[in-house]
Amino acid sequence: MTRSCDIRRWVIFPALLLLLLLVFFLYLSPADQSVSTDFSPVRNAGRDATRALPLISLDTLKSSLHVAHQTNPTLVQINKVQKKIGGLRRIEKDLAEARVAIRDAVRARNYSSDNEETFVPKGSIYRNAYAFHQSHIEMVKRFKIWNYREGELPLVHLGPVNNIYGIEGHFIDELESGLSPFLACRPNQAHAFFLPVSVAKIITYLYLPITTYARDQLIRTFTDYVDVVAHKYPFWNRSRGADHFMVSCHDWAPEVTQADPNKFKNFIRVLCNANTSEGFNPTRDASLPEFNLHPFKLAIPHLGLPPSERHIFAFFAGGAHGDIRKILLHHWKDKDGEVQVHEYLPSGQNYMQYMGQSKFCLCPSGFEVASPRLVESIYSGCIPVIISDHYSLPFSDVLDWSKFSITVPVEKIAEMKDILKRVPDREYLELQRRVAQVRRHFELNRPAKPFDVLHMVLHSVWLRRLNVGLAE
Ligand SMILES: *[C@@H]1O[C@H](CO)[C@@H](O)[C@H](O)[C@H]1NC(C)=O
Ligand SMILES: *[C@@H]1O[C@H](CO)[C@@H](O)[C@H](O)[C@H]1NC(C)=O
Ligand SMILES: *[C@@H]1O[C@H](CO)[C@@H](O)[C@H](O)[C@H]1NC(C)=O
Repeated sequence: MTRSCDIRRWVIFPALLLLLLLVFFLYLSPADQSVSTDFSPVRNAGRDATRALPLISLDTLKSSLHVAHQTNPTLVQINKVQKKIGGLRRIEKDLAEARVAIRDAVRARNYSSDNEETFVPKGSIYRNAYAFHQSHIEMVKRFKIWNYREGELPLVHLGPVNNIYGIEGHFIDELESGLSPFLACRPNQAHAFFLPVSVAKIITYLYLPITTYARDQLIRTFTDYVDVVAHKYPFWNRSRGADHFMVSCHDWAPEVTQADPNKFKNFIRVLCNANTSEGFNPTRDASLPEFNLHPFKLAIPHLGLPPSERHIFAFFAGGAHGDIRKILLHHWKDKDGEVQVHEYLPSGQNYMQYMGQSKFCLCPSGFEVASPRLVESIYSGCIPVIISDHYSLPFSDVLDWSKFSITVPVEKIAEMKDILKRVPDREYLELQRRVAQVRRHFELNRPAKPFDVLHMVLHSVWLRRLNVGLAE
């Protein structure tokens, strides 16, 4: 029996207490459509909603002084069933300690660590460098993930590691390799549960060559997987998915949860296609940067020149994919010597080399919101110029994108040159310095290294898990 319950029932109907001791209580932070700048207090989202208990908010990381208020989680006594599942109290205690450490670091404006820290995040690229640093330290120290073993190759346990969905496969493979220090030995040690399903592989094996765009098969395959693990183990039901996550870069990935929004209400989706007008919810979901990985290469070449040698003012090359690019090409294609917008580069030309010679690199959304150009600009030391609607930027709970990128609203594409020309030289140099600084967080290493992109992805999940308290 699984039922949610308002805490008042415990007081008003003590008789129900015995009965409901069999039930787990889930405390969730409110699912806001956007990450607000203020710390939002406990909010109850209706009868069926679990009690909101924002223990540390994403906003805590955004503005140092909005430290979460002292909450008093009402923990229900452990009963036999819970003992059998075990470990939850320890897990929650661990998370509570991490929250305290983060709050203390914010207050003290310094970190604390058992180890020698080789890198200390600093500067304005971070919303709150102290909170982030401590949170990363706590993650490395504590975070354990259970990687479900159910399911068979090639749809599960394997993802593409090349081309534009490559980050999906690298993440899956990092956890599948068995070497990650974040892997839990037993599921009852885990703070979070990973569903190693690859949406990109499902598309490859069930849809290609493409004869239908109907998403039924994809949705069914994914939902079946969740049903299998929810049947076999108590963990999905315990949290109603709030400590479970998936990672996918495929455009269709957001749709896997579409058939049953209620079932997936709390589920953490880490997606490249982070379109907030298509149900991406930045407080629950996390945005995954898109990479265009050349076969069997991890590194994206660093072809950036020093600022003084960048002779192209602004640069873009790419197909007329999607509405935004059509507008961009309409206004700028082959029209201006300074804002160089090309639909295709002459063959043999390397667009990364162009990016490395440019001051500003236009990163418009294509068929979907994410673009590998964001990462490529950062690697090239070129200021990303973000042109998109409803795009929730990667790691934006930690990174302040306004400090190392420029946003040009779609309605202002025609005025782009003026907008970019208004950036004073000194400001450009600052932006450029910060782009170089932020690159560390977009570097892909296997095995992953602290503060690199896979750690940032893990940190996004860790942070969302910190926002949820599961009470026995
Ligand atoms: C910050 O903390 C570290 C270790 O906890 C310590 O070595 C360092 O001196 C502290 N820095 C400041 C500015 O207090
Ligand atoms: C979890 O809930 C589902 C649906 O209510 C149920 O079918 C399943 O058996 C439950 N899982 C466990 C392990 O009890
Ligand atoms: C984001 O979602 C909206 C609503 O469905 C859609 O109109 C828009 O085209 C999407 N953006 C991109 C770049 O796909």
